[in-house]
Amino acid sequence: MIVAGNWKMFTGPDPRALADRIAGLQGVEAIICPPYTELRACVDAGLTTFAQNVHWEPEGPYTGEISPPMLLGLGVHGSLVGHSERRQYFGETDIDVARRAEAALDAGLRVIACVGETQEERDSGDTEMVLRVQVGVIDDECGEDDRLVLAYEPVWAIGTGRTATPEMAQEAHSFIKSILDRPVLYGGSVKPENAAELMAQPDVDGALVGGASLDIESFVEICEAAARSRS
Ligand code: PGA
Repeated sequence: MIVAGNWKMFTGPDPRALADRIAGLQGVEAIICPPYTELRACVDAGLTTFAQNVHWEPEGPYTGEISPPMLLGLGVHGSLVGHSERRQYFGETDIDVARRAEAALDAGLRVIACVGETQEERDSGDTEMVLRVQVGVIDDECGEDDRLVLAYEPVWAIGTGRTATPEMAQEAHSFIKSILDRPVLYGGSVKPENAAELMAQPDVDGALVGGASLDIESFVEICEAAARSRS
């Protein structure tokens, strides 16, 4: 099981305090995705550390971007790509996301690639079509790479307090794996109260946690629930 904490553009818990709290956990890998300014502190604290995005070129005129070799140079282990906030607010397309993922993997980074439908798409019955396209493009570029993990994050569940039911998550995860057979994390309002039932689903291989990862206690509780879920 994997539990990844996406701090987004927030200051998270103290990296050393967090590292102390998760050090002894068995059966779960905790990954921290802090803002760029906190990457070094998280690496130095011994946390498995991912960036929140990564460009496909090793260097170039891409103001505001960061490249795979730059992250590797900092000791960073991987990166998120395709978070819905990148797609929604910064216009990233399926192709952009897949190129980012492929370049990061080729450089030796691990990747968590995020996919998920909007409320409108779910309401109009298009969830599977959207997932087929998003995951299909990642599959075309990356294939079943050992260092690739997917995250199913229904856009309507992110930061809203509305979580997919365990059945909805299971259905989507199993569909995603039928296209690209890699572990799939669930994301969207994961909290200590709902983590165990989501991670009890056979195709839910962990969680991508936003808001609840900013609080050390709730993040540790979710990690503990993940550790228990397969024991
Ligand atoms: P949330 O965010 O847990 O606050 O809903 C999840 C995410 O955006 O990765």
